[in-house]
Amino acid sequence: MKIVVTGGLGFIGSHVVVELQNEGFEVVIIDNLSNSSEDVLKGIATITGKVPVFEKIDLKDKPDVIDFFKRHHDVEGVIHFAASKAVGESVDKPLLYYENNLNTLVYILQQLQQKENSNFIFSSSCTVYGQADELPITESAPIQAAESPYGNTKQIGEEIIKDSCKVAPNLSAIALRYFNPIGAHESVNIGELPIGVPQNLVPFITQTGIGLREQLSVFGNDYPTKDGTCIRDYIHVVDLAKAHVSALKRLVEEKNSANYEVFNIGTGKGSSVLEVISAFEKISNQKLNYKIVDRREGDVVAAFADTTKANTVLGWKAKSSLEEALMSAWEWEKKIRA
Ligand code: UD1
Repeated sequence: MKIVVTGGLGFIGSHVVVELQNEGFEVVIIDNLSNSSEDVLKGIATITGKVPVFEKIDLKDKPDVIDFFKRHHDVEGVIHFAASKAVGESVDKPLLYYENNLNTLVYILQQLQQKENSNFIFSSSCTVYGQADELPITESAPIQAAESPYGNTKQIGEEIIKDSCKVAPNLSAIALRYFNPIGAHESVNIGELPIGVPQNLVPFITQTGIGLREQLSVFGNDYPTKDGTCIRDYIHVVDLAKAHVSALKRLVEEKNSANYEVFNIGTGKGSSVLEVISAFEKISNQKLNYKIVDRREGDVVAAFADTTKANTVLGWKAKSSLEEALMSAWEWEKKIRA
């Protein structure tokens, strides 16, 4: 069964490719290499023993998208990661984000709608909930006005898919709302490769731990939480990758109860920034140099998932602890800097 993974050389995409290949799916990767490297193919092949087919395509080029689906008329499903994801950059370049994240989505859906039967999985984010009134966050929590154009592309992306599914019974889609993905494959053949200064907490921690950054800034310790720092739900990227396989199987086996469904993908456990630092210190057996600074604009106080729907309906559950996920991130950091 042929599955297309757009953005398949990126952080989450590459881990999903591995899980798909391990489950016997034939994978075709589309990536424009804007934030990834072809070397990732080697990492994937080392793990699975299979080199996935790779096509360097920019999904903004509509004729190329049309041509791709003409050549691959036997595609049974698309898992769509290809998108820009830097929150700050999206504020400076909103139109770039709307073009990259939404035009591409429309072009793919236009092709899928024409097929007799097609399955689509969308990479969404817990950012759509903003600061939820109730924790843990269920899928029925209201969507809040987006804090950034990036966040807005996830919200609008979901709407585009929902509207497309309404008029195309042959199209089945699932949006997965990820909480905070961290970590790397246990083989340390693939992992996160942030370009420049990492914006996210865990890569900044591991880069500080290895000595690439001098000090981690903790953005605020005056939040109304147990230790004053923000709370997030950190999920091991391999657990997250497995959620995509479960979602894909639900669609191909026609077990879905509607042709557009949404699932939260997290661990259900909230950890504060200081707890993440302390867990990192424990697993790496060293002190981390950090200081408390002002809050970062746009940060919510606390977000963690109610995973009941994913656990019961999708039959998927995150297995790794925060420590295990951090350990894999640390092993990866040590390997790429060696
Ligand atoms: C961020 C994005 C979110 C996006 C997600 C993708 C923002 C405001 N949100 O989520 O839209 O979907 O990444 O990965 O950018 N922190 C520090 N010091 C740092 C970095 C982070 O203290 O150097 C803190 C943050 O304040 C936050 C926590 O660590 O409390 C997690 O931050 P981060 O990894 O950036 O993830 P989110 O902000 O949750």
